[in-house]
This record gives sequence, C-alpha cells and structure tokens, in this order.
Amino acid sequence: MIGEFALALFAAFYYLPWIFKGIRDYLYEAPYYKKLPGPKGLSFIGSAFEVAVGEDTTAPLKFWLKEADKAREQGHDIFTVTAMGRHIAFPLSGESVKFICESNEEILKGKDYEFLRPWVGSGLMLSIGKKWKDRRRALTHVFHFTMLEGYTMTFNKHARVFVDILSKQSGTVVDMEIHLKRLSLDSALNTTMGMDFGIQHNPKHPYLASVDIFTNYAQRYNNEPHMWINWIWYLVYSREYNDVLKKLNDFSIEVLAKRMESVRKGEVDLEAKYKPLIDIFIALCNKGECTYDEVHYELNASIFGAHDTTSSTLTWIFWCLATQPQHQQRIYDEMTEIFGDSDRDCTLEDLQEMDFTERFMKESMRVFPPIPTVGRELMSDFQMGKYLLPKGSEIFIAPHIIHHNPDVYPEPWKFDPDRFLPDNVIERNPYDFIPFSAGPRNCLGQKFAMHEMKIIMSHAVRNFVFTTEHDILDQECKVEVMCKPSLGCHLKVEKRK
Ligand code: HEM
Repeated sequence: MIGEFALALFAAFYYLPWIFKGIRDYLYEAPYYKKLPGPKGLSFIGSAFEVAVGEDTTAPLKFWLKEADKAREQGHDIFTVTAMGRHIAFPLSGESVKFICESNEEILKGKDYEFLRPWVGSGLMLSIGKKWKDRRRALTHVFHFTMLEGYTMTFNKHARVFVDILSKQSGTVVDMEIHLKRLSLDSALNTTMGMDFGIQHNPKHPYLASVDIFTNYAQRYNNEPHMWINWIWYLVYSREYNDVLKKLNDFSIEVLAKRMESVRKGEVDLEAKYKPLIDIFIALCNKGECTYDEVHYELNASIFGAHDTTSSTLTWIFWCLATQPQHQQRIYDEMTEIFGDSDRDCTLEDLQEMDFTERFMKESMRVFPPIPTVGRELMSDFQMGKYLLPKGSEIFIAPHIIHHNPDVYPEPWKFDPDRFLPDNVIERNPYDFIPFSAGPRNCLGQKFAMHEMKIIMSHAVRNFVFTTEHDILDQECKVEVMCKPSLGCHLKVEKRK
C-alpha cells in the first residue's frame, strides 16, 4: 500500500510539467473551440467517451458519422470535439482535409502516437523537421520500381505458403483474419529483416505473440480515455507494457546484430540490386547518416507500418470478395486473361494488367478504410478553409468520414468498383480517397502494399472460391487500432478444379 502510494506520488511529480502544459494548452484552445461546430458536452471531458472506443468497439465510427451528417446539414465542412482536455477537429470532405494533408509545416503526429514511440522510436514515423525530411528522402528509393521487383519474389513466396495452408482446409470455413495476419507478418519481416521467419507454419512464434500483446495494449489505450493521462497509464500498465516492449526491441536488436556480423564476414552484399530494408539502414549507418541505435527502431517502425495495416485491408477485401460473387468471378476472369491456366508467379507487368482487381480493391478500401484516423497536432494556429484552429489542438484525418461523404459518393455504403473508372476519378477531388492519407507525409509503403495485396489476390482467386452466407453490410466496423470487421472474416474456402 505504502509502495503504491509512493509510486503514485512519484508519478504525479514526474508528470507535473506535463499536467501544467495540458492545463495551459486547454485554456488557450477552449475559446476557439467554443465557436466551432460540434457537440459541446462537459468542459474538459467533453465527448471523450464517445470518441474513445469503450466497450462497444463499433461505437466511435458511428458517432463520427452521425456528427459528420449533423455538421453537413448545418452547412459545415468540419466538426470538432473536446475529449479529456484534447481538442480535435474532423474535416468532412476532400476539400477541407486537403489543407492539413498538403501542409509541409503541420506534420507533427497526433498525441496518440506517443504510445508507439517506445517501439518505433523517433525516426521516420514520428520525427519532424530536418530529421524526418532526410530520413524520408533516404527511404523513398526503397519503394522505387526496381526495389519493388525484388520484393515481388518475396510476396509470391509467402502467398504460395498461404495457398498451401488454405488448400489443406478446402471445403471448410476458415478464419481468414488469422491467416492473413500471419501472411502479412511473414512478408513484412522478410522484406524488412531479410529473413524468412515462417510464421505461417509456426503460429506459436514468440514475435507474433509479442506483436499481439502490444496491439492489445494499444487497444486498451484506445478503449479507456483516462489512460490518455500518462501517469495513470504508467501506474496501471507500465510493468507489462515495458515487458512486451523489451521482447519486441530485443528481437530486432538481435536480428540486426546477426545481420551486421554477416555483413562484416562478407556474406551479405550491401550493393545488391534487391535488398531488404535492414541492409539499406546498415549502409546508411556506414555512411554516418544514422546511428546503429536508431536502426532497430526504424525496423520496428517498418514492421508496425506494414503488417497490421496490410492484413486488415486484406481482411476487408476478402470479405467484399466473398459477399459479391459477381465481382469475384470478374476478378477470376481477369486473372485467367493474364495467366491462362498457369500457376506461375506474378510479375510487376502482370500487376499493371489487373484493372478491375485494382478498382475492386480501391472500392473495398473506400467503403471499409483500414486506418480509422491519422492525427496531427498543430504547432501553430492553423487556418483550415474558413475555420481557425488553435495551436496545440489536433486534426483527425478520418478516411471513414471522407469516404462516406454523400455529396461525393452518392449511396456511400453501396459497393461499386466503377467509382474508380478513370472518368469518375477525374471528377473528384484527389483528397476524397485517402486510405493511405495524402500529401508530403502520406504512406511511404503505398505502392509496396498495393503490389503485395494484388499478388496475394492473384494467387488466392486463381486457386479458390470464397463464399459466405452473409451480406456485405452485415458487418460493422470496429476500431481495434485498425478498423476490423465486427463479425470477423469466416469464409468457406473451396479449391477450384
Ligand atoms: C494497406 C496497407 C497500408 C495502409 C492502409 C497504410 C496507411 C498509412 C497511413 C494512413 C499512414 C499515415 C500517413 C500520415 O501520417 O499522413 C501511413 C504511414 C506510413 N506507412 Fe503505411 N500503410 C500501409 C502499408 C504500409 C507498408 C506495407 C509500409 C512499408 C513497407 C508502410 C510504411 C509507412 C511509413 C514508413 C509511414 C510513415 C511515413 C511518414 O511519416 O513519413 N505502410 N501508412
């Protein structure tokens, strides 16, 4: 008891400057927010329990869409909320979100991202200013066409393992979410670390368990708004949270040490045409452009950025596939045109031919965007169209809101891949479709992800038919860090003859 009291006292003192800053920021921001559209609620706490996930993980997205509709009816292009002292603005259309996406100055990530910092460090994902610019420039070529060619081999390899595993379950109902998660973790680890960890064959791999536990903590953080107050989080969860962080960090430190040893022995060629991310970072270190200590954080960031995002997106894509047999057949026909009845690997050229498949995937990401929000914390007062937002407040770029804007997408819940026909795309503001965010700080792995997902689709649809008795909208979107289907994704998988 005395120990806990002492710990609480220590935490309170430790976080005192943070508490003062919170109060000062709140007092500065509140007068601006009084004048902006959106639910007012209690002061300070505001709509925290609607914005946060809480017990019903489908509630926040419903709340956002409801508030978005209300604000649009009143002729506004944003709505705002207060939540545990935080002030947050949600742009409602491509027109208004463009201001923040295009800004080269306002690129500081939102307050929620602090949760990730002990895992992903202060590199590309969370830095700003010169450090971010240099790191972004150094890594942009990783996702260049030539490098993607190399990753294509890796994607094909893991997609084949996925097909083998599903083949053994043909005729049964399969939990696709689990299999897609293992598949995308295999790909992310292989392209990042340069090693095949075989997670699909070894689902008890400790790294997978640690990633799951970490995601679970992120989920608790989302669920419980009082956890946004750092010292409460520290008191309740710090021990277990630090424990899992240590495991995740030890893993990448160990892999990095082994790889550097291989480089020293001349077993790895840092000049190779195709190389995993780890080699690119080791080369940067050798040139003095980053420290070895930073590398394992960048590797963690890449795995984090690449795996849960891709697997959640794919889960929705497979859901859309199984619930719409007519589109599934059309994708199969497109694959047959490209591959005939061959089981060969996909090449980069094949991917360019997958017109309908791409439109279908984009429509899946429009209706069910995998990332609920991307936050920005304003470093200066910011004019977003006709709205002046105060320094220190946040903007949530929410694809879910932008993608369901009925003024841009009539019948927004209707699934129609033709919305992505070139003539229709040209009619829209480019910021009306932002699953990868947009602007200078958009997703660096966008092409990489699209290639990977198309390759997986191509192997899956050539080999299987996916069905379910559900309708597409039987699912709701729940927020579990990513947006996930509330019913999971249990599909009947049958091998094609
Ligand atoms: C379908 C899968 C993916 C989706 C939906 C997605 C989406 C996003 C989004 C919304 C952001 C935030 C951008 C912002 O702050 O404005 C982001 C950032 C990022 N993503 Fe992705 N991502 C995906 C896959 C990947 C993959 C496969 C990689 C790497 C191989 C990757 C690497 C990154 C990086 C490095 C950033 C940080 C960029 C920066 O801050 O400059 N992503 N992603």
